[in-house]
Amino acid sequence: MAHDPQILDHEYDGIKEFDNPTPGWWNFLFFFFILFGIVYIFMSIASPYVPTPEQELEQAQLKWTKLRFEGLELEPTPETIASYAQSKQWMDYAKGLFKANCVSCHGPDGGGVVGPNFCDDYGKNLKTIGDIPLVIANGAGSGAMPAWGQRFQQNDIVLLSAYVASLRGTTPLVPKPPEGELMEPWPDVPPPAEASPDEAESSDG
Ligand code: HEC
Repeated sequence: MAHDPQILDHEYDGIKEFDNPTPGWWNFLFFFFILFGIVYIFMSIASPYVPTPEQELEQAQLKWTKLRFEGLELEPTPETIASYAQSKQWMDYAKGLFKANCVSCHGPDGGGVVGPNFCDDYGKNLKTIGDIPLVIANGAGSGAMPAWGQRFQQNDIVLLSAYVASLRGTTPLVPKPPEGELMEPWPDVPPPAEASPDEAESSDG
């Protein structure tokens, strides 16, 4: 019997094997996608050079804040503070400052710890909304409330004041009892004209 080059040499119980290698293109795709998978996993999870979607969002928001901040010159007037207190985007930014610097004494939600409660209608050093930036910049209670005037630029003081003002009327988890006297109502003004990207999209807030 002539040897068929397509039949392999070995034989078991009369069963022979047909020489049927996987085609070159199949091998190519097989190894190509293994390689692609490794590179893809590295790029999407492990690589420090490719940002995750969360990091991209964070960076975009930071860029937005910086961009807006550069053109901003906020005056610590009652109208400006009351107005910015209604801007969700700016209050998100100011909340970051508050979290980093103020929560140890005023509580995570402004309910008060060592410092007074910001959520009620009473103020120890505050009669009007315009007193807030003065207390933040100059301190109070003979230093029990530190002076932040050297630590923050004016925009930050105004936005922090607006954030403190925005807490009035909210319900903290553990409210400290009221201290001082009843404050005047905050002025009734519209939010700042320049709408932020997400205020333009959503109407709630
Ligand atoms: C080391 C603790 C401490 C830190 C940190 C602190 N505060 Fe205070 N704060 C106080 C105390 C205490 C008072 C009350 C002072 C007094 O007895 O008159 C106060 C009062 C205030 C008041 C006036 C409230 C009122 O009813 O009189 C404002 C506004 C205020 N703080 C804002 C801030 C902001 C904004 C930050 C962060 C940038 C901050 N504080 C950080 C302790 C602190």
